[in-house]
Amino acid sequence: MSADVKAKAGLEDIVATTSAICYLDGERGVLAYCGHDIHDLARHATFEEVCFLLWHRRLPTRRELGDLQTQLASARALPEPVLRLLRQIPPVDGMDALRTGVSALAHFDPDATDQSPQATYRKAVRLTAQVGSLVATYGRMAAGGGPLAPDPALGTAANFLYMLTGTRPDAVAARAFDIALILHADHELNASTFAARVTAATLSDIHSTIVSAVGTLKGPLHGGANAEVMRMLLEIGEDAGPDRAEAHVRSMLGRKEKVPGFGHRVYRTEDPRATHLRRMSKELGERVGRTRWFEMSERIEAVVVREKKLNPNVDFYSASTYYTLGIPIDLFTPIFAVSRVSGWTAHVLEQYENNRLIRPRAEYTGPTYPQRWLPLDQR
Ligand SMILES: CC(C)(COP(=O)(O)OP(=O)(O)OC[C@H]1O[C@@H](n2cnc3c(N)ncnc32)[C@H](O)[C@@H]1OP(=O)(O)O)[C@@H](O)C(=O)NCCC(=O)NCCS
Repeated sequence: MSADVKAKAGLEDIVATTSAICYLDGERGVLAYCGHDIHDLARHATFEEVCFLLWHRRLPTRRELGDLQTQLASARALPEPVLRLLRQIPPVDGMDALRTGVSALAHFDPDATDQSPQATYRKAVRLTAQVGSLVATYGRMAAGGGPLAPDPALGTAANFLYMLTGTRPDAVAARAFDIALILHADHELNASTFAARVTAATLSDIHSTIVSAVGTLKGPLHGGANAEVMRMLLEIGEDAGPDRAEAHVRSMLGRKEKVPGFGHRVYRTEDPRATHLRRMSKELGERVGRTRWFEMSERIEAVVVREKKLNPNVDFYSASTYYTLGIPIDLFTPIFAVSRVSGWTAHVLEQYENNRLIRPRAEYTGPTYPQRWLPLDQR
Protein backbone atom coordinates (compact mmCIF):
# COMPACT_ATOMS: atom_id res chain seq x y z
CA MET A 1 0.00 0.00 0.00
CA SER A 2 1.38 3.43 -0.84
CA ALA A 3 2.66 5.42 2.13
CA ASP A 4 0.54 8.51 1.30
CA VAL A 5 -2.82 6.74 1.81
CA LYS A 6 -4.44 8.50 4.75
CA ALA A 7 -6.92 7.04 7.20
CA LYS A 8 -10.26 8.80 7.66
CA ALA A 9 -11.18 9.06 11.35
CA GLY A 10 -14.27 6.98 12.08
CA LEU A 11 -14.45 5.96 8.39
CA GLU A 12 -16.66 9.04 7.89
CA ASP A 13 -18.35 9.02 4.46
CA ILE A 14 -16.36 5.95 3.39
CA VAL A 15 -18.51 3.64 1.27
CA ALA A 16 -17.60 0.17 2.55
CA THR A 17 -20.08 -2.08 0.74
CA THR A 18 -23.06 -2.18 -1.59
CA SER A 19 -26.43 -2.97 -0.06
CA ALA A 20 -30.00 -3.15 -1.35
CA ILE A 21 -31.61 -2.78 2.09
CA CYS A 22 -31.51 0.76 3.39
CA TYR A 23 -31.47 4.11 1.57
CA LEU A 24 -30.21 7.04 3.62
CA ASP A 25 -29.88 10.65 2.47
CA GLY A 26 -28.44 12.68 5.33
CA GLU A 27 -28.76 16.03 3.52
CA ARG A 28 -32.48 15.65 2.80
CA GLY A 29 -33.35 13.61 5.90
CA VAL A 30 -34.58 10.61 3.93
CA LEU A 31 -34.65 7.07 5.32
CA ALA A 32 -36.21 4.23 3.34
CA TYR A 33 -36.19 0.46 3.71
CA CYS A 34 -35.92 -1.19 0.27
CA GLY A 35 -37.33 1.97 -1.30
CA HIS A 36 -40.23 2.40 1.16
CA ASP A 37 -40.12 5.75 2.94
CA ILE A 38 -39.92 5.49 6.72
CA HIS A 39 -42.88 7.88 7.09
CA ASP A 40 -45.11 5.54 5.04
CA LEU A 41 -43.92 2.55 7.04
CA ALA A 42 -44.48 4.31 10.38
CA ARG A 43 -48.02 5.26 9.29
CA HIS A 44 -49.15 2.04 7.64
CA ALA A 45 -46.90 -0.97 8.29
CA THR A 46 -46.50 -3.38 11.19
CA PHE A 47 -43.13 -4.48 12.51
CA GLU A 48 -43.69 -7.97 11.04
CA GLU A 49 -44.26 -6.46 7.57
CA VAL A 50 -41.02 -4.52 7.97
CA CYS A 51 -39.15 -7.71 8.93
CA PHE A 52 -40.41 -9.40 5.77
CA LEU A 53 -39.47 -6.32 3.72
CA LEU A 54 -35.92 -6.25 5.09
CA TRP A 55 -35.36 -10.00 4.64
CA HIS A 56 -37.01 -10.35 1.19
CA ARG A 57 -36.61 -6.77 -0.09
CA ARG A 58 -40.29 -6.55 -1.02
CA LEU A 59 -43.56 -6.23 0.88
CA PRO A 60 -45.31 -9.51 1.79
CA THR A 61 -48.65 -10.68 0.45
CA ARG A 62 -51.37 -11.28 3.07
CA ARG A 63 -50.55 -14.98 3.09
CA GLU A 64 -46.79 -14.44 3.41
CA LEU A 65 -47.37 -12.02 6.27
CA GLY A 66 -49.64 -14.52 8.02
CA ASP A 67 -46.99 -17.24 7.64
CA LEU A 68 -44.27 -15.00 9.06
CA GLN A 69 -46.47 -13.98 12.01
CA THR A 70 -47.02 -17.68 12.76
CA GLN A 71 -43.30 -18.46 12.49
CA LEU A 72 -42.36 -15.58 14.78
CA ALA A 73 -45.05 -16.45 17.34
CA SER A 74 -44.04 -20.10 17.46
CA ALA A 75 -40.33 -19.24 17.88
CA ARG A 76 -40.71 -16.91 20.87
CA ALA A 77 -40.44 -19.37 23.74
CA LEU A 78 -36.95 -19.50 25.27
CA PRO A 79 -35.24 -22.87 25.86
CA GLU A 80 -35.34 -23.87 29.55
CA PRO A 81 -31.51 -23.81 29.96
CA VAL A 82 -31.45 -20.21 28.66
CA LEU A 83 -34.17 -19.25 31.18
CA ARG A 84 -32.07 -20.86 33.94
CA LEU A 85 -29.02 -18.92 32.78
CA LEU A 86 -30.97 -15.65 32.77
CA ARG A 87 -31.99 -16.32 36.39
CA GLN A 88 -28.31 -16.54 37.37
CA ILE A 89 -27.19 -13.33 35.65
CA PRO A 90 -26.90 -10.36 38.06
CA PRO A 91 -29.69 -7.92 37.11
CA VAL A 92 -27.28 -5.06 36.51
CA ASP A 93 -27.06 -4.42 32.78
CA GLY A 94 -29.67 -5.46 30.23
CA MET A 95 -27.22 -5.34 27.31
CA ASP A 96 -24.79 -7.66 29.09
CA ALA A 97 -27.65 -10.07 29.75
CA LEU A 98 -28.77 -9.86 26.12
CA ARG A 99 -25.24 -10.50 24.81
CA THR A 100 -24.95 -13.61 27.00
CA GLY A 101 -28.50 -14.70 26.14
CA VAL A 102 -27.98 -14.49 22.36
CA SER A 103 -24.74 -16.44 22.67
CA ALA A 104 -26.48 -19.09 24.80
CA LEU A 105 -29.35 -19.44 22.28
CA ALA A 106 -26.85 -20.65 19.68
CA HIS A 107 -26.30 -23.86 21.67
CA PHE A 108 -29.99 -24.78 21.59
CA ASP A 109 -30.95 -23.75 18.06
CA PRO A 110 -32.19 -26.76 16.04
CA ASP A 111 -30.20 -25.50 13.03
CA ALA A 112 -27.07 -24.74 15.06
CA THR A 113 -24.66 -26.64 12.82
CA ASP A 114 -26.42 -25.97 9.51
CA GLN A 115 -25.09 -22.94 7.65
CA SER A 116 -27.20 -23.40 4.51
CA PRO A 117 -29.10 -20.29 3.32
CA GLN A 118 -32.44 -21.92 4.30
CA ALA A 119 -31.25 -22.75 7.83
CA THR A 120 -29.68 -19.29 8.22
CA TYR A 121 -32.99 -17.67 7.26
CA ARG A 122 -34.83 -19.82 9.81
CA LYS A 123 -32.28 -18.74 12.43
CA ALA A 124 -32.83 -15.07 11.48
CA VAL A 125 -36.57 -15.49 12.13
CA ARG A 126 -35.97 -17.33 15.41
CA LEU A 127 -33.40 -14.79 16.62
CA THR A 128 -35.79 -11.93 15.88
CA ALA A 129 -38.53 -13.67 17.88
CA GLN A 130 -36.22 -14.69 20.74
CA VAL A 131 -34.40 -11.38 21.27
CA GLY A 132 -37.75 -9.85 22.28
CA SER A 133 -38.38 -12.70 24.72
CA LEU A 134 -34.87 -12.43 26.16
CA VAL A 135 -35.23 -8.72 26.86
CA ALA A 136 -38.78 -8.95 28.26
CA THR A 137 -37.88 -11.94 30.45
CA TYR A 138 -34.69 -10.32 31.73
CA GLY A 139 -36.70 -7.15 32.51
CA ARG A 140 -39.31 -9.14 34.40
CA MET A 141 -36.75 -11.05 36.40
CA ALA A 142 -34.78 -7.86 37.16
CA ALA A 143 -38.01 -6.43 38.63
CA GLY A 144 -38.43 -9.54 40.81
CA GLY A 145 -41.08 -11.32 38.70
CA GLY A 146 -41.10 -14.75 37.12
CA PRO A 147 -40.87 -15.39 33.36
CA LEU A 148 -44.08 -15.40 31.34
CA ALA A 149 -44.82 -17.65 28.37
CA PRO A 150 -45.37 -15.70 25.14
CA ASP A 151 -48.93 -15.20 23.92
CA PRO A 152 -49.13 -16.45 20.31
CA ALA A 153 -52.28 -14.40 19.71
CA LEU A 154 -50.31 -11.16 20.05
CA GLY A 155 -48.03 -9.42 17.55
CA THR A 156 -44.37 -8.74 18.33
CA ALA A 157 -44.95 -5.34 19.96
CA ALA A 158 -47.95 -6.30 22.11
CA ASN A 159 -46.40 -9.62 23.10
CA PHE A 160 -43.21 -7.89 24.22
CA LEU A 161 -45.12 -5.49 26.49
CA TYR A 162 -47.20 -8.40 27.82
CA MET A 163 -44.14 -10.57 28.59
CA LEU A 164 -42.50 -7.60 30.31
CA THR A 165 -45.39 -6.29 32.39
CA GLY A 166 -47.79 -9.23 32.70
CA THR A 167 -50.61 -7.07 31.33
CA ARG A 168 -51.86 -7.12 27.76
CA PRO A 169 -51.35 -3.56 26.47
CA ASP A 170 -54.23 -1.52 25.04
CA ALA A 171 -54.26 -0.75 21.31
CA VAL A 172 -52.67 2.71 21.70
CA ALA A 173 -49.65 1.46 23.70
CA ALA A 174 -49.19 -1.58 21.44
CA ARG A 175 -49.28 0.55 18.28
CA ALA A 176 -46.89 3.15 19.75
CA PHE A 177 -44.41 0.41 20.54
CA ASP A 178 -44.94 -1.18 17.12
CA ILE A 179 -44.04 2.16 15.49
CA ALA A 180 -40.93 2.45 17.68
CA LEU A 181 -39.86 -1.00 16.47
CA ILE A 182 -40.44 0.00 12.83
CA LEU A 183 -38.38 3.19 13.25
CA HIS A 184 -35.40 1.34 14.77
CA ALA A 185 -35.40 -1.68 12.45
CA ASP A 186 -32.57 -0.69 10.13
CA HIS A 187 -30.18 2.15 9.47
CA GLU A 188 -27.73 1.25 6.71
CA LEU A 189 -24.14 0.76 7.84
CA ASN A 190 -24.43 1.96 11.45
CA ALA A 191 -21.72 0.69 13.81
CA SER A 192 -23.50 -2.44 15.06
CA THR A 193 -24.65 -3.49 11.58
CA PHE A 194 -21.12 -3.01 10.29
CA ALA A 195 -19.83 -5.16 13.17
CA ALA A 196 -22.36 -7.87 12.26
CA ARG A 197 -21.32 -7.76 8.59
CA VAL A 198 -17.61 -7.95 9.46
CA THR A 199 -18.30 -11.06 11.53
CA ALA A 200 -20.52 -12.56 8.78
CA ALA A 201 -17.81 -11.90 6.19
CA THR A 202 -15.51 -14.37 7.95
CA LEU A 203 -18.32 -16.92 7.31
CA SER A 204 -18.90 -17.24 11.03
CA ASP A 205 -22.44 -18.28 12.11
CA ILE A 206 -25.40 -15.89 12.40
CA HIS A 207 -25.59 -16.10 16.22
CA SER A 208 -21.97 -14.90 16.41
CA THR A 209 -22.81 -11.97 14.12
CA ILE A 210 -25.62 -10.89 16.46
CA VAL A 211 -23.37 -11.20 19.53
CA SER A 212 -20.92 -8.83 17.79
CA ALA A 213 -23.77 -6.44 16.99
CA VAL A 214 -25.19 -6.45 20.53
CA GLY A 215 -21.77 -5.68 22.00
CA THR A 216 -21.37 -2.78 19.56
CA LEU A 217 -24.86 -1.37 20.11
CA LYS A 218 -24.23 -1.16 23.85
CA GLY A 219 -21.91 1.85 23.69
CA PRO A 220 -23.19 5.34 24.63
CA LEU A 221 -22.19 6.75 21.22
CA HIS A 222 -24.60 4.26 19.60
CA GLY A 223 -27.63 2.56 21.18
CA GLY A 224 -26.69 3.47 24.74
CA ALA A 225 -27.66 7.10 24.13
CA ASN A 226 -31.42 6.62 24.76
CA ALA A 227 -30.77 5.51 28.36
CA GLU A 228 -28.36 8.45 28.81
CA VAL A 229 -31.10 10.85 27.69
CA MET A 230 -33.51 9.54 30.34
CA ARG A 231 -30.84 9.64 33.05
CA MET A 232 -30.25 13.29 32.13
CA LEU A 233 -33.99 14.07 32.33
CA LEU A 234 -34.28 12.29 35.69
CA GLU A 235 -31.25 14.18 37.01
CA ILE A 236 -33.01 17.43 36.12
CA GLY A 237 -36.17 16.04 37.79
CA GLU A 238 -39.78 15.81 36.62
CA ASP A 239 -40.87 18.67 38.90
CA ALA A 240 -38.09 20.96 37.69
CA GLY A 241 -39.77 22.00 34.42
CA PRO A 242 -38.45 23.46 31.15
CA ASP A 243 -36.53 26.42 32.65
CA ARG A 244 -34.39 24.15 34.81
CA ALA A 245 -33.94 21.80 31.86
CA GLU A 246 -32.65 24.73 29.81
CA ALA A 247 -30.22 25.77 32.57
CA HIS A 248 -29.00 22.18 32.90
CA VAL A 249 -28.28 21.73 29.23
CA ARG A 250 -26.67 25.17 28.96
CA SER A 251 -24.26 24.26 31.71
CA MET A 252 -23.49 20.94 29.97
CA LEU A 253 -22.66 22.80 26.79
CA GLY A 254 -20.62 25.32 28.82
CA ARG A 255 -18.54 22.41 30.12
CA LYS A 256 -18.18 21.16 26.50
CA GLU A 257 -20.10 17.99 27.33
CA LYS A 258 -22.08 16.19 24.68
CA VAL A 259 -25.83 16.23 25.14
CA PRO A 260 -27.09 12.67 24.64
CA GLY A 261 -29.63 12.21 21.85
CA PHE A 262 -28.23 14.95 19.59
CA GLY A 263 -26.02 14.89 16.52
CA HIS A 264 -25.57 12.24 13.90
CA ARG A 265 -22.80 11.07 11.63
CA VAL A 266 -25.04 11.09 8.55
CA TYR A 267 -28.04 13.42 9.08
CA ARG A 268 -27.47 17.13 8.52
CA THR A 269 -31.15 17.83 9.02
CA GLU A 270 -33.91 16.39 11.19
CA ASP A 271 -33.60 12.64 11.71
CA PRO A 272 -36.92 11.46 10.16
CA ARG A 273 -37.33 8.94 13.01
CA ALA A 274 -37.21 11.74 15.58
CA THR A 275 -40.25 13.37 13.92
CA HIS A 276 -42.43 10.38 14.86
CA LEU A 277 -40.91 9.84 18.28
CA ARG A 278 -41.43 13.52 19.19
CA ARG A 279 -45.13 13.18 18.35
CA MET A 280 -45.42 9.88 20.22
CA SER A 281 -43.69 11.29 23.31
CA LYS A 282 -46.20 14.17 23.32
CA GLU A 283 -49.31 12.07 22.69
CA LEU A 284 -48.43 9.32 25.16
CA GLY A 285 -47.61 11.93 27.83
CA GLU A 286 -50.95 13.68 27.27
CA ARG A 287 -52.76 10.36 27.47
CA VAL A 288 -51.47 9.62 30.97
CA GLY A 289 -51.47 13.28 32.11
CA ARG A 290 -47.66 13.48 32.44
CA THR A 291 -46.40 15.97 29.90
CA ARG A 292 -43.39 17.30 31.83
CA TRP A 293 -40.84 14.97 30.20
CA PHE A 294 -42.00 16.10 26.77
CA GLU A 295 -42.00 19.79 27.71
CA MET A 296 -38.48 19.53 29.12
CA SER A 297 -37.30 17.59 26.08
CA GLU A 298 -38.76 20.21 23.74
CA ARG A 299 -36.90 22.97 25.59
CA ILE A 300 -33.63 21.03 25.51
CA GLU A 301 -34.09 20.54 21.78
CA ALA A 302 -34.64 24.27 21.26
CA VAL A 303 -31.42 25.10 23.15
CA VAL A 304 -29.23 22.52 21.39
CA VAL A 305 -30.59 23.41 17.95
CA ARG A 306 -30.00 27.12 18.63
CA GLU A 307 -26.62 26.87 20.34
CA LYS A 308 -25.01 23.92 18.54
CA LYS A 309 -27.02 23.62 15.31
CA LEU A 310 -27.51 19.93 16.16
CA ASN A 311 -30.80 18.08 15.69
CA PRO A 312 -32.24 15.39 17.93
CA ASN A 313 -31.53 11.86 16.74
CA VAL A 314 -33.62 8.68 17.16
CA ASP A 315 -32.58 8.34 20.80
CA PHE A 316 -33.74 11.71 22.12
CA TYR A 317 -37.53 11.38 22.08
CA SER A 318 -37.49 7.58 22.32
CA ALA A 319 -36.32 8.07 25.92
CA SER A 320 -39.46 9.89 27.11
CA THR A 321 -41.63 7.69 24.88
CA TYR A 322 -40.37 4.46 26.50
CA TYR A 323 -40.44 5.95 29.98
CA THR A 324 -44.06 6.99 29.53
CA LEU A 325 -44.89 3.46 28.36
CA GLY A 326 -43.59 2.26 31.76
CA ILE A 327 -40.41 0.63 30.43
CA PRO A 328 -37.42 0.63 32.85
CA ILE A 329 -34.37 2.62 31.71
CA ASP A 330 -32.08 -0.41 31.79
CA LEU A 331 -34.18 -1.87 28.97
CA PHE A 332 -34.04 1.13 26.62
CA THR A 333 -30.94 -0.03 24.73
CA PRO A 334 -31.94 -3.72 24.74
CA ILE A 335 -35.26 -2.61 23.17
CA PHE A 336 -33.27 -1.02 20.36
CA ALA A 337 -31.90 -4.53 19.75
CA VAL A 338 -35.41 -6.09 19.86
CA SER A 339 -36.07 -4.11 16.69
CA ARG A 340 -32.61 -3.82 15.10
CA VAL A 341 -32.08 -7.58 15.13
CA SER A 342 -34.32 -7.60 12.04
CA GLY A 343 -31.95 -5.23 10.22
CA TRP A 344 -28.83 -6.95 11.50
CA THR A 345 -30.03 -10.34 10.26
CA ALA A 346 -31.11 -8.84 6.90
CA HIS A 347 -27.60 -7.43 6.41
CA VAL A 348 -26.00 -10.71 7.49
CA LEU A 349 -28.13 -12.65 4.97
CA GLU A 350 -27.12 -10.13 2.30
CA GLN A 351 -23.45 -10.43 3.26
CA TYR A 352 -23.55 -14.25 2.99
CA GLU A 353 -25.24 -14.00 -0.43
CA ASN A 354 -22.28 -12.26 -2.01
CA ASN A 355 -19.43 -12.55 0.44
CA ARG A 356 -15.89 -11.32 0.47
CA LEU A 357 -13.79 -11.13 3.65
CA ILE A 358 -13.83 -7.58 5.08
CA ARG A 359 -10.24 -6.74 5.83
CA PRO A 360 -9.29 -3.06 5.48
CA ARG A 361 -5.85 -1.53 6.03
CA ALA A 362 -4.41 0.83 8.67
CA GLU A 363 -2.22 3.85 8.05
CA TYR A 364 0.94 3.02 9.99
CA THR A 365 1.99 5.70 12.53
CA GLY A 366 4.43 3.69 14.71
CA PRO A 367 8.26 3.80 15.04
CA THR A 368 10.17 4.03 11.75
CA TYR A 369 11.07 0.83 10.01
CA PRO A 370 13.48 -0.87 10.46
CA GLN A 371 14.30 -0.67 14.17
CA ARG A 372 17.57 -2.24 15.38
CA TRP A 373 17.07 -5.35 17.52
CA LEU A 374 18.61 -4.96 21.02
CA PRO A 375 19.18 -8.02 23.18
CA LEU A 376 17.35 -7.94 26.55
CA ASP A 377 20.39 -6.92 28.67
CA GLN A 378 21.15 -3.93 26.42
CA ARG A 379 17.67 -2.25 26.62
C1 LIG B 1 -23.77 10.65 17.14
C2 LIG B 1 -22.32 11.10 17.32
C3 LIG B 1 -21.52 9.96 17.95
C4 LIG B 1 -21.74 11.40 15.93
O1 LIG B 1 -20.37 11.56 16.12
P1 LIG B 1 -19.39 12.20 15.03
O2 LIG B 1 -19.98 12.18 13.68
O3 LIG B 1 -18.07 11.52 15.24
O4 LIG B 1 -19.31 13.72 15.46
P2 LIG B 1 -18.33 14.31 16.53
O5 LIG B 1 -18.45 13.59 17.83
O6 LIG B 1 -16.97 14.41 15.93
O7 LIG B 1 -18.95 15.75 16.70
C5 LIG B 1 -18.69 16.86 15.83
C6 LIG B 1 -18.78 18.15 16.64
O8 LIG B 1 -20.13 18.31 17.16
C7 LIG B 1 -20.14 18.27 18.59
N1 LIG B 1 -21.21 17.40 19.02
C8 LIG B 1 -21.61 16.25 18.42
N2 LIG B 1 -22.62 15.72 19.11
C9 LIG B 1 -22.86 16.54 20.13
C10 LIG B 1 -23.79 16.52 21.19
N3 LIG B 1 -24.66 15.50 21.29
N4 LIG B 1 -23.79 17.50 22.08
C11 LIG B 1 -22.92 18.53 21.97
N5 LIG B 1 -22.00 18.61 20.99
C12 LIG B 1 -21.98 17.62 20.09
C13 LIG B 1 -18.80 17.66 18.98
O9 LIG B 1 -18.38 18.07 20.27
C14 LIG B 1 -17.90 18.15 17.89
O10 LIG B 1 -17.58 19.50 18.16
P3 LIG B 1 -16.11 20.09 17.88
O11 LIG B 1 -15.94 19.95 16.38
O12 LIG B 1 -16.20 21.48 18.35
O13 LIG B 1 -15.17 19.21 18.65
C15 LIG B 1 -22.24 12.36 18.20
O14 LIG B 1 -23.06 13.36 17.66
C16 LIG B 1 -22.61 12.07 19.64
O15 LIG B 1 -21.74 11.66 20.42
N6 LIG B 1 -23.91 12.30 20.03
C17 LIG B 1 -24.33 12.01 21.38
C18 LIG B 1 -24.56 10.51 21.53
C19 LIG B 1 -25.78 10.04 20.77
O16 LIG B 1 -26.84 10.63 20.84
N7 LIG B 1 -25.61 8.92 20.06
C20 LIG B 1 -26.70 8.29 19.33
C21 LIG B 1 -26.50 8.38 17.86
S1 LIG B 1 -27.91 7.82 16.96
